[in-house]
Amino acid sequence: MKHGKAIFRGRFLNRGLIIGVICFRESGAEQKFKEISNAYEVLADNEKKSLYDKYGEAGLKGADMGMGDFNNPFDLFESLFEGMGGMGGTRGARNRPMQGDDEGYNLVLNFKDAIFGVEKDIEVTRLESCGTCNGSGAKPGTKTRKCRTCGGQGQVVSSARTPLGVFQQVMTCSTCDGTGEYSTPCSTCNGDGCVRKTKKISLKVPPGVDSGSRLRVRSEGNAGRRGGPPGDLYVFIEVRSDPVLKREGTNILYDCKVSYIDAILGTTMNVPTVDGSIDLKIPAGTQPGSTLVMAKKGVPYLGKQNNRGDQLVRVQVEIPKRLSSEERKLIEELADLNKSKTANSRR
Ligand SMILES: *[C@@H]1O[C@H](CO)[C@@H](O)[C@H](O)[C@H]1NC(C)=O
Ligand SMILES: *[C@@H]1O[C@H](CO)[C@@H](O)[C@H](O)[C@H]1NC(C)=O
Ligand SMILES: [Zn+2]
Ligand SMILES: [Zn+2]
Repeated sequence: MKHGKAIFRGRFLNRGLIIGVICFRESGAEQKFKEISNAYEVLADNEKKSLYDKYGEAGLKGADMGMGDFNNPFDLFESLFEGMGGMGGTRGARNRPMQGDDEGYNLVLNFKDAIFGVEKDIEVTRLESCGTCNGSGAKPGTKTRKCRTCGGQGQVVSSARTPLGVFQQVMTCSTCDGTGEYSTPCSTCNGDGCVRKTKKISLKVPPGVDSGSRLRVRSEGNAGRRGGPPGDLYVFIEVRSDPVLKREGTNILYDCKVSYIDAILGTTMNVPTVDGSIDLKIPAGTQPGSTLVMAKKGVPYLGKQNNRGDQLVRVQVEIPKRLSSEERKLIEELADLNKSKTANSRR
């Protein structure tokens, strides 16, 4: 993986140089640079790439996260031209502490757990600082030496013949990954400084989450490098549907079938809610398709648990397709009654 990184950066430099120079001359350069830096960040790291493929850019950044290291366009500049020598890239940048990558986790919740909140134990596999070498990557008790490949510069120069002429390309030294130093690798982590480990995390899911909600667990992502802070863990929530109750934001929708007689005369129906079955009064004269509101029987507002949405009951009036002869007689009488009544009122 280390080598893959170095090779990639080397390739990127050609394009990075051209794109970078053009962008700096344009207005809105900072925004362009951010876009470039995002693409760069995402592609430069396999971990992030898989996160990116899964969740898009949102998978990598929380709305509350800002731009990370790339807030400052000069940081960005440095990172684009890192390893080019004399263009802002310095060997020091390679030795700087680096924050660990964010990690993602998909959590599927039951309908009611999402509404009332739940505590879940999840197992997350991510990079942790190696305990044997304390994250340094060097075998304990060994000394670090100057890298022989690059003479301690952290960079190597190669020439490439192109139609535009010979390009001298400064590439990050793959032997030392640009640090300029070489040490006997720690046998536990193979010199990486990090090991992949599974950790159980108790997650408190707050009431009111929904499919698409994302929880951030601070500092439970991948370990940082060279003493940098760890990344965050992002839990992506998906909620199973309920066979009868449908969620719409903080409201719950329910379709209730009422006979035409009950709709005319009024009745009380037992209606399922997330709080269990509750009697609902169907007023006399309830119209087909009308909605009855069961106040505060909906979903708690995320972060404001004392506020709840409503359950909205849509009334479907059932008209019988067949009648017994006795029923038919009674309804015909009703029709006659109404006819004579309207006839009377017309007179
Ligand atoms: C490990 O590193 C931390 C800081 O990164 C340091 O405080 C601690 O003393 C180190 N432990 C050992 C055993 O080297
Ligand atoms: C009686 O007839 C009128 C006019 O057709 C209608 O609007 C009304 O709903 C009817 N009433 C009953 C009780 O059927
Ligand atoms: Zn180690
Ligand atoms: Zn080197």
